Amino acid sequence: MSSSSRPPLACTVLTARPADVDRAFYDLNRDMDPNFVHVFLDKLQRYAAKPDRALFLAEYQGRIIAFATIIDQAPAPDESSESTIRLLETCACGTGLMVLPEFRRRGVAATLVQQWENWALENGLQGIWVVTRQMADWYHRCFSYYIHGVTIRRGVKKNSTGQKITL
Ligand SMILES: CC(C)(COP(=O)(O)OP(=O)(O)OC[C@H]1O[C@@H](n2cnc3c(N)ncnc32)[C@H](O)[C@@H]1OP(=O)(O)O)[C@@H](O)C(=O)NCCC(=O)NCCS
Repeated sequence: MSSSSRPPLACTVLTARPADVDRAFYDLNRDMDPNFVHVFLDKLQRYAAKPDRALFLAEYQGRIIAFATIIDQAPAPDESSESTIRLLETCACGTGLMVLPEFRRRGVAATLVQQWENWALENGLQGIWVVTRQMADWYHRCFSYYIHGVTIRRGVKKNSTGQKITL
């Protein structure tokens, strides 16, 4: 990861447990569509509770300022080829990433994307894929994800030293 536009923010990242969800929701929901805050809360609760997924929270000065979610298996996008389906079965899926506006351009998303990658490796998965409508170029430019049809993944292989290898 190269440098962001402003000095990096010294945030800490926690892997959320169910007890963390209320304050995460309190701090983050203002940036969500008011019509869908209940969906957001439900998502936070599921990702904090279930063993096949994770909710990462970035905390700064006692406030939650960002979140990222990941799951070990997600259905491949409609009309994926057989080879794409097989490929995605070996990868975790990043399903959410948001940094509150006033904390952007300070490396917080980069820290959370690194958490995704660590989690995928720890869970024996070979990469990460993300479905995104507008941010494909951003993932590609900033994190070396490559575009795979309508999906993106970053190849991460686990070897005996746990080193990441970008395909
Ligand atoms: C996209 C988003 C997550 C970036 O978060 P962030 O904490 O500002 O990102 P970082 O500071 O870690 O920056 C990572 C890289 O992205 C670049 N970047 C960040 N925001 C950018 C923007 N709006 N346009 C272009 N580049 C951007 C940074 O310059 C940095 O690259 P660099 O290291 O080469 O300078 C944040 O703007 C956001 O929450 N947006 C709304 C939700 C969203 O789009 N989520 C992702 C889509 S799934």
